[in-house]
Amino acid sequence: MIRAIVLAAGKGTRMKSTRPKVQHELCGRSMLWYVLQALRDAGIEEIVVVVSPDLQEWVDGFDVNSVVQAEQLGTGHAVRVALESLDPRAGGRIVVACGDMPLVPAELFAAMTSSLDPSDDEGEAVMALVTAKMPLPSYFGRIVRRGKAVECIVEVRDATADQLTIDEMNAGIYAFDESALREAVTHLRPENAQSEYYLTDTVAYFVNAGKRVRPVPAREHLHVLGINDRVELAVARREMNARLCAQYMREGVTIIDPETTYLEPELAIGSDTVIYPNTTIARLSRLGTHCVVGPNARLSNAAAGDRVTIRESVVIDSTIGDDVSVGPFAHLRGETEVAERVHVGNFVEIKKSRLARRAKVSHLSYLGDATIGEETNIGAGTITCNFDGKQKNETIVGRDVSIGSNTSLVAPVTVGDGALTGAGSVVTKDVPEGERVAGNPARPLPRK
Ligand code: UD1
Ligand code: MG
Repeated sequence: MIRAIVLAAGKGTRMKSTRPKVQHELCGRSMLWYVLQALRDAGIEEIVVVVSPDLQEWVDGFDVNSVVQAEQLGTGHAVRVALESLDPRAGGRIVVACGDMPLVPAELFAAMTSSLDPSDDEGEAVMALVTAKMPLPSYFGRIVRRGKAVECIVEVRDATADQLTIDEMNAGIYAFDESALREAVTHLRPENAQSEYYLTDTVAYFVNAGKRVRPVPAREHLHVLGINDRVELAVARREMNARLCAQYMREGVTIIDPETTYLEPELAIGSDTVIYPNTTIARLSRLGTHCVVGPNARLSNAAAGDRVTIRESVVIDSTIGDDVSVGPFAHLRGETEVAERVHVGNFVEIKKSRLARRAKVSHLSYLGDATIGEETNIGAGTITCNFDGKQKNETIVGRDVSIGSNTSLVAPVTVGDGALTGAGSVVTKDVPEGERVAGNPARPLPRK
């Protein structure tokens, strides 16, 4: 069984943030979330995350083990703290990853799990490390080789001018034979420019002891981008978003412009749905098949059925049935539920309301805390006056009702099935079934 240690206790001072670095998000998830996800996708289930004291509570929400590194004395010290929390296992292997590298693909972690195995021309290694060719200048530690063999890693702050011209970098991802690692970390000394215990010094330690250290080249240096500041965070976000768009496109979604379509992991988007530019779909939103979303739409924790159209609109914490059209310029929020074939048109805000099948609210309306029956038409400019200055009140409108343009429904109020309100009505009292009312305050019209 392979275990992983994730280093996440660093302060991340270059983020210039009150929040610890690994909490910063890209595409709706923290950096650390992606690292843990990739490790699990690589089949590594037993993970211990090394955190600073202020992160412990947060990290517990990820269902992993964590250990606090009270003082950040370096990567070697962090691994030592993690090892103290793990029961020793003879013959065990440990993958070490950084919490600030969200782009590492699961395949790279999977490759690390077998990276110590003997190969055709080499015996077993005690350590493997991911290396990457990178453009210079770079803050990454340099891989110093003698011939083909890796000799040591030198940190930028300790490097000579010559060493700084090396363009092969230490990615910061390792696999270790557990007992070799346990021994090596006890030999680390903070004798370097940063007075830190460098995990990277284990390379020279093993090499000097005649043990084998194996380099594992990364396919692309972007995969091992460690995020130190918000510029790198933006680079990583762009790459992650491109990956997510590619994933959903492969599942059958048409994305007109992936560059301006902002997606997250764990969305469900049905096939033949088309997403137009400047659209954000967030927080576990679900969309059926053959939908049209955007341009300029924002969905967050939204659920929509099949053949739904949402143009230039915002849908938050709401549910939409099949064959509904929303927008342009509508705003649905607060657990609104809209049934099949409803039409929500221009400049309509709906909060915490339920609209039954085929109801229509086409122009310039506000519905809050309302229940609207089947086939009912809400005229342009209708407002539910749901707030009396103290509390929110409900409006209930039955089925087949005609609410005239510019009606104010002063809640709490009920309009019965088949009723009608005239244009400009201010409805302050319940309207019985089939009644026709008009005026301010609305009164029954003479029967025809
Ligand atoms: C480290 C490597 C460097 C490599 C680079 C890749 C060392 C000495 N250097 O440098 O060779 O190229 O990563 O990104 O290891 N951390 C802790 N506790 C600590 C210090 C750090 O948990 O006491 C964590 C950080 O949160 C981070 C990771 O370890 O996730 C790397 O630490 P960082 O300070 O960023 O190391 P680098 O200087 O980038
Ligand atoms: Mg770093």
